[in-house]
Amino acid sequence: MNRAIKFATSMTATIAAVLVVAAGMPRWVGEACAASSPPPPISFSEDVQPLLQFRCGSCHTPGGEGYAKSGFEVSSYESVMKGTKFGQVIIPGNPDESSLMRLLDWRVSAEIQMPHGKKQLSICDRDLIRTWIFKGAKNN
Ligand code: HEC
Repeated sequence: MNRAIKFATSMTATIAAVLVVAAGMPRWVGEACAASSPPPPISFSEDVQPLLQFRCGSCHTPGGEGYAKSGFEVSSYESVMKGTKFGQVIIPGNPDESSLMRLLDWRVSAEIQMPHGKKQLSICDRDLIRTWIFKGAKNN
């Protein structure tokens, strides 16, 4: 490679890096999610339930503290849609009105931010659940 081409190549890389930084965080995060998220459509049984099981199952299956206090169980589609002993936490098609998303986005008081006392789910993981709800919260 001659010098001029080498210079041009490294300039292109620098400009690309600057553009990525200038584009700002949300775009960067969005691209990272797009690259790592499962191919559509989001599936309850293959994408959503395993995520809930992994991050919530220790407390939200019978015998767990979260299940005992709230009645919310993550083992099956039926139990997730049934919600807590006070009612549904998912409104199909409407993630903004679904209380589950408020708990996961930490838009609630500290005692009911989920997962309780643990790390918040990543933006990508929350967007996966959000998209599944938006697309109708199907048993797919
Ligand atoms: C370490 C245990 C633990 C983990 C992990 C956990 N929870 Fe909970 N969860 C609780 C407890 C305890 C409560 C009862 C809180 C209260 O009412 O004071 C609760 C309550 C809830 C409620 C009912 C809140 C309400 O409106 O009263 C929902 C819904 C819920 N959890 C969803 C989840 C989801 C989804 C996850 C995984 C992302 C999760 N939880 C992970 C312990 C846990």
